[in-house]
Amino acid sequence: MKKYQILAVVLGMLILTASAGRADTITAFLDSPADKTGVAGIETIHGWAFATNDAPVSVYLRVNGTTQHDYPLPCCGPREDVQWEVAGAPLNTSYSGVVNYARLGAGEHTVGVEIQADGCEPVILEHTVMVAVPGNVEFNTAFSFEDSWTGVDAHDDHILIINATTGAEMGRSANLRVEYSIPTQNTGIVEAYNESATTGETLHEVQTIFNEHCISCHSDAYEGGRPVAGLDLAEGNMPRNTIAAGSGQLSDGTLLINPGRPDESYLVEKIAVDAPTRGSRMPHRMPPLSDGEIETIRNWVLDGALVPSGSAYDGDGGHDDDHDHDDNHDDDDDDDHGHG
Ligand code: HEC
Repeated sequence: MKKYQILAVVLGMLILTASAGRADTITAFLDSPADKTGVAGIETIHGWAFATNDAPVSVYLRVNGTTQHDYPLPCCGPREDVQWEVAGAPLNTSYSGVVNYARLGAGEHTVGVEIQADGCEPVILEHTVMVAVPGNVEFNTAFSFEDSWTGVDAHDDHILIINATTGAEMGRSANLRVEYSIPTQNTGIVEAYNESATTGETLHEVQTIFNEHCISCHSDAYEGGRPVAGLDLAEGNMPRNTIAAGSGQLSDGTLLINPGRPDESYLVEKIAVDAPTRGSRMPHRMPPLSDGEIETIRNWVLDGALVPSGSAYDGDGGHDDDHDHDDNHDDDDDDDHGHG
């Protein structure tokens, strides 16, 4: 019996000496946002932290390399999963707070935390995020899918929402990319292309090129009234038939126009290269478009293939197709696409 007691004391002393010789440290992790992801809107920033000397930890938000000392994040709530996985972790390690990413502005930013505890070196954890700001406003008070359509970018695993109406009360259109995020186990907007003052002009230039070089075949003006290859590029019909729409010729999910991705847009390939994946360069059996015309179309796609909100291009105008009103008078309350 005595032998064991002595052994226990000796062992205890060894452990004490070992920990006295080792500096106390903070062990911490930033769960969300994950590094190099797209973020938008109001999301939580969260992770866990503890000090090996059991000192209480303080956690502060960090934005673009600056610690926001007047913005402490509440810490620490229970995280059993951390206890299971990290040796020596106490139960209460969880910190979290809320960030409105729109306030940082669209583009690349770093966000994270600085963690402090008495007797320990502070720890900084930072992740790079790409902020999307639908409608270019800090807070959308109005948002609608009334004139929208959708598609899938299977290559990037994105859901595409085309022609959402955003921007506070401004009624601007935006094309959005939605992604399933593994860290949050939920979907969120990861890219937004927003209507600008010049969106209408740009689309007009693109449509003018199609009118001149394409619609003799790709519209119901073609003999028999059916567009060649089932592709109608006529004014008013073109956006819905191309943006986030699959190529009928490839039928493997490749999109004719993939917003923001001209190199993954089959229509761009068909006008820009001599030997496209299938068939011939467009316009069919005619001289290719000029470099300037190809650039105009390519840049429109690169900027997000936007259609101005409430325009004749948004799929409901240009031709009298479906649900137009019967009464031609006093129609302020229905069909208000033009003056929202
Ligand atoms: C003289 C008729 C003609 C003209 C003009 C023409 N095309 Fe075509 N287009 C075709 C034919 C025929 C095909 C199918 C065979 C092929 O791809 O070579 C086709 C196929 C296509 C496809 C593939 C459709 C799909 O669903 O995958 C695209 C995209 C396309 N054309 C775009 C254009 C564009 C853009 C223009 C104008 C710059 C244009 N075409 C002008 C005849 C025409």
